[in-house]
Amino acid sequence: MSSENAIAEYWSAAAPAFDEEPDHGLRDARTRRAWERRLADWMPPRPAVDVLDVGCGTGSLTVLLAGAGHRVTGVDLAPGMVAAARAKIAAAGLSAAFVVGDAAAPPVGVRRFDVVLSRHLLWTLPDPQAALRGWLARLRPGGRLVLIEGRWRQPADAGAVGAGVAAPYAGEHRLPWQGGVTARELTSAVAPLVSEVRVESLSEDGELWGGEVDDERYALLALA
Ligand SMILES: C[S@@+](CC[C@H](N)C(=O)[O-])C[C@H]1O[C@@H](n2cnc3c(N)ncnc32)[C@H](O)[C@@H]1O
Repeated sequence: MSSENAIAEYWSAAAPAFDEEPDHGLRDARTRRAWERRLADWMPPRPAVDVLDVGCGTGSLTVLLAGAGHRVTGVDLAPGMVAAARAKIAAAGLSAAFVVGDAAAPPVGVRRFDVVLSRHLLWTLPDPQAALRGWLARLRPGGRLVLIEGRWRQPADAGAVGAGVAAPYAGEHRLPWQGGVTARELTSAVAPLVSEVRVESLSEDGELWGGEVDDERYALLALA
């Protein structure tokens, strides 16, 4: 099986139970509102913008963004995730476009976006730096990256190297950011490519996660 198929199969199998985590399914109204507030802060100050949600998973953030009036396209490698996302947006009475494809090279043709957003995807990618460059190339002038990332299951003050969360399909591919990426390391990767970078810590906001956390979680906003 190709490594891309193995990744898609792993995540499709994870799709049915994925939303059971409070920050995945956003089933609790407080958790959902906490994400709605953050997303509103991170979007450009215009009523409706074009957002590409890469590695959209079951579409929880896609739904919030569509609910806020934005035009959202979700991309995910796992057909099971995309099926769940399509069902979720329909159940919400909203619309968004979903495509099955590699987030590192989103199959969106020549379309350009005001925002490329990704949550908890970079750690799974064999070449996250190439993905970052690809995302920037899909932004309109003045566009922005919104990257919600972290380094999970180890104290926020742990060094850059640690066990973290393992991707079981890693196989022969080294995943440079397996276990997550610190804000410092992601800033180093993104800053040379953009005009401005801002990092917002999310570790202290337990409402986002369904409870307190003690590892590093953050949003990195980059203006192209
Ligand atoms: C941890 S989940 C995050 C899902 C969603 N962004 C969220 O925050 O709820 C990672 C997602 O990335 C997807 N994924 C992994 N590698 C991918 C790739 N190369 N291209 C597109 N999606 C990928 C998986 O299928 C999965 O849906």
